[in-house]
Amino acid sequence: MPFDRSIKIAPSILSADFADFGREIQAIEAEGADWVHIDVMDGHFVPNITFGPPAVAAFRRHVKTVMDVHVMIAPVDPFIDAFAKAGTDILTAHVEAGPHIHRTLQAIRGAGMKAGVALNPGTPAQSVAHLLDLTDLVCVMTVNPGFGGQKFIDMSAKVRELRAMIGDRPVHIEIDGGMDPTTAPLMAAAGADVLVAGSAVFRGGSVENPAPYGENIRAIRAAAERAR
Ligand code: DX5
Ligand code: ZN
Repeated sequence: MPFDRSIKIAPSILSADFADFGREIQAIEAEGADWVHIDVMDGHFVPNITFGPPAVAAFRRHVKTVMDVHVMIAPVDPFIDAFAKAGTDILTAHVEAGPHIHRTLQAIRGAGMKAGVALNPGTPAQSVAHLLDLTDLVCVMTVNPGFGGQKFIDMSAKVRELRAMIGDRPVHIEIDGGMDPTTAPLMAAAGADVLVAGSAVFRGGSVENPAPYGENIRAIRAAAERAR
């Protein structure tokens, strides 16, 4: 997985048909997804429950690009090996999920995965200042995590601050929540390169009619690239 700062669209399967994940993943990749974003929720760190490591392992059989797993769970550490065995490429944990995010990031890399760190909207950029050499991706939440389809919260100032802090380090800035052709350009202009989009990708399409997925992905990508 070579590093670059080109715009990458990572559809979140939180907005897919939960009874048909395999075909949904195949459809979004065929329609141009760069990464596949998988939202793991525990009903404790966030007020919603999705799926755990066995489901993620089953998704792996269908993901040909990059499997980007965002864990909204606390604690994280007891599950790191299970997500590694499931074939996770990038495992992103929240800085708010426990007192030892530094140890968590070391453990994620130690298990052979890329390590990501996510920040809730209320958490400052400075919270990751001492983690940047331990991480491959900083995920800036532009909604409070837990649900798809929420209203975008503008985090442009935080993204600019992170972009300056990261400098030349090979660290992605990912944006998660409310990304669509209107909001994505703001984040791309501020320095983001990975754009997660759930409802704005799956809107209007289905596994039987996946062409809208491609139109939606291309619209978000084109708007973001124009803003650079
Ligand atoms: C929210 C999740 C997001 C979510 C984004 O907790 O982390 O990945 O699926 O959904 P949209 O794009 O609909 O805001
Ligand atoms: Zn997510």
